[in-house]
Amino acid sequence: MAGKLKGKTAFVTGASSGLGLADVIEFVKEDAETVIMVSRNPKKLQEVAMIASEYGNSRILTYQLDVAREDDWRKVTELLNDKVDKLDVLVNNAGINKRDSFRDCTLKDWNRIISINQTSVFLGMKYCLDLLKKSNNASIINLSSITGLTGYFAVAYTASKWAVRGMTKSAAMEFGKFGIRVNSIHPGFINTPLNESIKDLIDATKGMNPLGRAGESMEIAKAVTFLASDDSSYMTGAELVLDGGLTSGGQFKIIADQFNIY
Ligand SMILES: NC(=O)c1ccc[n+]([C@@H]2O[C@H](COP(=O)([O-])OP(=O)(O)OC[C@H]3O[C@@H](n4cnc5c(N)ncnc54)[C@H](O)[C@@H]3O)[C@@H](O)[C@H]2O)c1
Repeated sequence: MAGKLKGKTAFVTGASSGLGLADVIEFVKEDAETVIMVSRNPKKLQEVAMIASEYGNSRILTYQLDVAREDDWRKVTELLNDKVDKLDVLVNNAGINKRDSFRDCTLKDWNRIISINQTSVFLGMKYCLDLLKKSNNASIINLSSITGLTGYFAVAYTASKWAVRGMTKSAAMEFGKFGIRVNSIHPGFINTPLNESIKDLIDATKGMNPLGRAGESMEIAKAVTFLASDDSSYMTGAELVLDGGLTSGGQFKIIADQFNIY
């Protein structure tokens, strides 16, 4: 039944595609009062905001915001003070990936990935805090990854996603007294534009995955909505893994298949 986010104001970064856009659509379907969509490309943002608005009656606000730029966070949160009286949900979703080994990762690429995937989450929580405090019942959802739980062959991406997982727990400790919950989401391989170029790699992981397939954006958005809603009212500092079971022992599944154990 719709209505899980009734009366809530939500802020989603990287909202113009993939998981961020799916979150926005799900929030609108669940009757959020206001959804604030931010991303780097204002034209694309306008286009997808039109699409999202067809799913319900939420007020949708869009702002250009590069998550790695402190000035952008300062500017947008100042503008928001005149538009909303509180924030109930912050989804730190924007991110990029570049699969470089230690040998190939340049310092320039390292700094770019860390600033967009990691520093952004710090800035997002820091600059939205005052508005989130006004909710008395807010929820922050930080997009980590299964690569925030294991090693992976993309060193900077992996480092950034472990950092997001750690920062989430620090924030949960610090913000609990304001009624703000903070949790991390850990998707496995999901069909989004981020993974367009690695379809072969994703196919190769299917044998390790108990559900035998990649995930879809809406399957992650439903979990983000659960964390955004009051249904998760006693959950903070936690990790929600949505990977079809990949990290539950995928390597053993391959062995089991090979030796006909099941
Ligand atoms: N798709 C997956 O398999 C998967 C798995 C685990 C985690 N994730 C994480 O989920 C999040 C969303 O990924 P996605 O798959 O939807 O990717 P995507 O490429 O479809 O979307 C990423 C969004 O972030 C935005 N973005 C990138 N850099 C930005 C910046 N500097 N400022 C503002 N916006 C910026 C892009 O414009 C885009 O809208 C990312 O943090 C990603 O690491 C994705």
